[in-house]
Amino acid sequence: MWLKVKRNILLNPGPATTTDSVKRALVAPDICPREKEFCEVVREIRNNLVKIAHGDDSYTCVLFAGSGTSVMDAAINSVTPPAKKIAIINNGAYGERMVKIAQAYNLDYVEIKYEFGAKINPSQVAEILKKDKDIACLAMVHHETTTGLLNPVKEIGKIVKENNCVFIVDTISSFAGIPIDIKDWQIDFMMSTSNKCIQGMAGVAFIICKKSELEKLKDYPRRSFYLNLYDQYLYFEKTGQSQFTPPVQILYALKQAIKEYFAEGGENRYQRYTENWKVLRQGLLDLGFKLFHEPEDESHILLTVYEPELPGYNFEAMHDYLYARGFTIYPGKIGNKNTFRLANMGEINTKDIKKFLKALASYLKSIQR
Ligand SMILES: Cc1ncc(COP(=O)(O)O)c(C=O)c1O
Repeated sequence: MWLKVKRNILLNPGPATTTDSVKRALVAPDICPREKEFCEVVREIRNNLVKIAHGDDSYTCVLFAGSGTSVMDAAINSVTPPAKKIAIINNGAYGERMVKIAQAYNLDYVEIKYEFGAKINPSQVAEILKKDKDIACLAMVHHETTTGLLNPVKEIGKIVKENNCVFIVDTISSFAGIPIDIKDWQIDFMMSTSNKCIQGMAGVAFIICKKSELEKLKDYPRRSFYLNLYDQYLYFEKTGQSQFTPPVQILYALKQAIKEYFAEGGENRYQRYTENWKVLRQGLLDLGFKLFHEPEDESHILLTVYEPELPGYNFEAMHDYLYARGFTIYPGKIGNKNTFRLANMGEINTKDIKKFLKALASYLKSIQR
């Protein structure tokens, strides 16, 4: 007998709304994570995450206990070679976070900086990589969750490889939501987490790695003890286990979420998210809201919305009004602009979006009385 759990519609960009079956997978018999039975669960998860990225045997997946930032940290501190530079494209808060990680480890980095939400200029990136032969790797974000902009990973991947660099991509808020082909896009290290478009619970983050590039990290400096990618990989390979205690129940939930991902199909999930986005986008325009990006630049997963210029409007009050009705909305992340964000990832559909739009319309009515 299961207790009924209230279903909330999370329109924040992860953790996302999950199925009841993923929630229930958290309740599993106690088990020591060093048991063979649990190692098999982990092995299957690692292999399936590679499959979702359309990788083959030349790729592997390394798990860490932590949020998305833990794997951004692990990738940057472990993949940058000694006495070489890392180039980082920054057109949003997550690109900026990668720069902060490079600074925290005192790495030699080249920041390719744009305004938050501005489009990347691939020829500028090519020019920088061509000129500075000390740059050994380039890191960028696929879906900049700061504004909902989709960055051109495949195009940049081509430039990165023409310049013989290693390619690191943060696909934290797009993995399993947008079809990604790790091989075709020439990605060497790609990060994501259990709690966004894969629709599991928060607590596990992972890096899908090209084995031949991963092996090169063997003799690189150990800049972090806990978040060293090569050491964690080696331990998984030798023992099938994580070096340190993994979040056991979160992994059971992730196993279930992966099963549900394959049952839905990657293309179908992208289509469902796209339908959510279309209905949300049109509904907001119909209510008179203005949007930050043009539709052709958007990820289909998140919208940045300008706050309305109405006398009684207040973000907190709007949030609380909607929260009381089961909808969670999220503040904006662009410094000087008054915006808020709505994500449409997770186990939600167009019916939920329509209900949300109704609730939003009634909030707007309530302040205009
Ligand atoms: C693109 C991207 N990178 C990194 C992160 C950081 O993840 P976390 O907050 O789980 O550390 C997020 C979180 O929303 C994200 O959207």
